[in-house]
Amino acid sequence: RTINWDVQAAQKGGHKHFMIKEIFEQPKVISDCLAGRIDLEKGEVVLSEIADLEPPERLHIIACGTSYHAGLWGKYLIEKWAEIPVEVEIASEFRYRDPLLSKGGVALAISQSGETADTLAGIKLVKQKGLPIIGLCNVVGSSVARESSHVVYTQAGPEISVASTKAMCSQLTALLLLALYWGKKKGVIDVATYSRAVMDLRNIPSILEAELPAMRDKAQELSREFSEAYSFFFLGRGMYFPLALEGALKLKEISYIHAEGYASGEMKHGPIALIDPKFPTFAMALNDELFSKVKSNLVEVQARGGEIIALTNPGVDLEVEHRWNLPEVWGPLNTFIALPALQLFAYETADYLGKDVDQPRNLAKSVTVE
Ligand code: AGP
Repeated sequence: RTINWDVQAAQKGGHKHFMIKEIFEQPKVISDCLAGRIDLEKGEVVLSEIADLEPPERLHIIACGTSYHAGLWGKYLIEKWAEIPVEVEIASEFRYRDPLLSKGGVALAISQSGETADTLAGIKLVKQKGLPIIGLCNVVGSSVARESSHVVYTQAGPEISVASTKAMCSQLTALLLLALYWGKKKGVIDVATYSRAVMDLRNIPSILEAELPAMRDKAQELSREFSEAYSFFFLGRGMYFPLALEGALKLKEISYIHAEGYASGEMKHGPIALIDPKFPTFAMALNDELFSKVKSNLVEVQARGGEIIALTNPGVDLEVEHRWNLPEVWGPLNTFIALPALQLFAYETADYLGKDVDQPRNLAKSVTVE
């Protein structure tokens, strides 16, 4: 699709790139994704698009790239809150694996564009096995939406930048709603957890709105210090492991600095051999039940002279070279504050390096071929 430059300038809303505009749209994206899906009176999640579906015995999430990372994140909550076993599949692997799809299973195809060839091929395979398919898409009327038996639109609005940012935010919002919805329908989610999530989710947009400018300043400061890095580790545990993968992908695809997302508990099984003063680590060290485990992994990194940027919260006991404090919110909702920080770090680094942020080399917005 070609857009002429004047129109593009207007469409960027005064921002330098579509990507930074879309990062700053995330508070609105969360609100738009929630609109009509929370019954304020009853304090309940409403997902009419899948009301006729029984909660699945097993969920097969099929996706690529950033959407795959969203699926990995969704697995944690859908298993924890709805007690539904979740398999998260890289679509290009799934389509050639002849997967075991049992009756009672449901597929969830996550795709911003709704045109990704591998994801569509995965859907075709599922259809042959006769399972229902929920399309979690951002583009209305896209192929994934048309091929699916049920569609949940993420309402993120058009995402122009090749690097996906606000679309992932909307996917996580929708996945969180799915976990709440099915957990309630099955009667297995803890009532206090359910009502806390529903209540606090609505405050996230304003908290994020207030924090984004300071986050951008911090990202700019750090990007100047690390723009010469030749490689980065992004480390996380639990639901921050998918975010670590996403932070690495963002940095790779727009700044062309190599980066590797890793489960921080895995470092001692080999990768820590790579750490030296020139190989920095970006750590997800937020205040959750796994923090102390992450902290001990970071001590190992520091012992080998590795420099650390740590996304964390005020008051957390952590000594690192570059501490990046984020406002702490409730439980998994911290993801919505941490994700933009990762996106901004990649954006400011790529912009500082003079890269073509919105149209990185060799990349397409939607991979419609194999
Ligand atoms: C994300 O920044 C990339 N542009 C890419 O990984 C993308 O997420 C992937 O190609 C899947 O696209 P889709 O969500 O449109 O299916």
